[in-house]
Amino acid sequence: MSPLTIPGFHTRPLVDGDVAAVEALFDEDPEYFEINGRRFPVEEMRTALPPGRSFDEKFTYVLERDGRAEGLIDIIRGFPEPHVWYLGFIFLSMRVRGGGTGRRCLHALYDWVRAQGGTVIRLGVVEPNAKARHLYATEGFEFEAMREIDPEAKRMRRTLVLRRAL
Ligand SMILES: CC(C)(COP(=O)(O)OP(=O)(O)OC[C@H]1O[C@@H](n2cnc3c(N)ncnc32)[C@H](O)[C@@H]1OP(=O)(O)O)[C@@H](O)C(=O)NCCC(=O)NCCS
Repeated sequence: MSPLTIPGFHTRPLVDGDVAAVEALFDEDPEYFEINGRRFPVEEMRTALPPGRSFDEKFTYVLERDGRAEGLIDIIRGFPEPHVWYLGFIFLSMRVRGGGTGRRCLHALYDWVRAQGGTVIRLGVVEPNAKARHLYATEGFEFEAMREIDPEAKRMRRTLVLRRAL
């Protein structure tokens, strides 16, 4: 696995000892969780896997700046098809977001996924997340499907499934 290189950050896999610091980042942005309809814990994101998949195919990275956790990226290889990578989560701290940081993270992901033979990035974004939707639309992500609210699946907002060829 080649390293994920994002300008301005040191990236490394998330470990147990990061959870408290990442929870604190989440706490600094109640609006994001309001938009999503609930505050999910880091552990839920960390252990989320599509049916039949293994942790060998899931990569959860911490983005550090000045030795401090400032973001998270979670991505699954080969879901649902072998050449598709599913971006389960991207979150930047209030300190580092804006000014194109999120866009730079996506560009780094395109290169990293491509280097491993992936040809598509796919993701879900909740309908009210206007900022993220603007970012994905201007990055060339295309609408694939709409998922309706489903509390049993912990989906509290309508969710757009988007994909972008790399
Ligand atoms: C989504 C996220 C990763 C984007 O990163 P970012 O550093 O904030 O975004 P960028 O600075 O790269 O900006 C991307 C675009 O969003 C736009 N934008 C910023 N704030 C906005 C707002 N309040 N409403 C609409 N668009 C906004 C920027 O203007 C920019 O577009 P432009 O280049 O056309 O001007 C980051 O905001 C974040 O972590 N948000 C909370 C978690 C989240 O929503 N994750 C995505 C879930 S699918």
